[in-house]
Amino acid sequence: MTKTRKKLIAGNWKMNGTLASAAGLAVALGEGLEKEPALLEACDFAVCPPFVHLLAVRQQLPVGVALGAQDCALNREGAYTGDISVNMLVDVECDYVILGHSERRQYHGETDGQVAAKAALCYEKNLTAIICVGETEVQRAEGCQEEVVGEQLARAVPPTATAGNTVIAYEPVWAIGTGKTASPEDVKAMHSFIRRHLKEQLAEGGNMRILYGGSVKPDNAEVLMSTENVDGALVGGASLKADQFLAIARGVK
Ligand code: PGA
Repeated sequence: MTKTRKKLIAGNWKMNGTLASAAGLAVALGEGLEKEPALLEACDFAVCPPFVHLLAVRQQLPVGVALGAQDCALNREGAYTGDISVNMLVDVECDYVILGHSERRQYHGETDGQVAAKAALCYEKNLTAIICVGETEVQRAEGCQEEVVGEQLARAVPPTATAGNTVIAYEPVWAIGTGKTASPEDVKAMHSFIRRHLKEQLAEGGNMRILYGGSVKPDNAEVLMSTENVDGALVGGASLKADQFLAIARGVK
């Protein structure tokens, strides 16, 4: 596998904060990175605030930290009450869009087919899709995690996906927000399965970034980030504090 890219440390702020706290977090990231510019050499960064905070965060974000949204609409524009289009995300200078997060799948019934359609819309506008996959606790207990993740990749990642327009995030559902992290052996096994699958599925599958997500914290970051085929992290809870988020990046050696 070619290792040409920096690790990507992406923060998923989920439905947290206020306009003031979101802008403050962006400012704090800038201050932290100014003190420790080596982190920008080791990692690429992105933060994904709630839609209504995107613009305020954009205005405060330091160079080297990209902006992302947590979802996008399935349609280009029109009578879709409550939805946010990819054009609107481009307008506020987003670079990334998280798609198919397990919370979207669970609470909004999002399907792999919808994720693929949204990703295709992102590609039209040069937005990079962060496509999330991962098995539930029951599926892991039954030993069918590879089958589940393989199916999600086959259905949710469009054939036009490239290493430039797509990042995969493996997030075991049972590890999200629970404090439980998959063991380094399990992460290694799943990421190598995903790598093999992507290589078979896509011309650029060998170079596509595969992030790990699920209770990534400063104290487990170094082990996780040094695991083979782990090209970064998608961080929820620990991305809400600038010092913790940057401490995770410090784990990238
Ligand atoms: P967590 O969330 O780090 O709080 O487990 C990760 C995610 O859902 O992206």
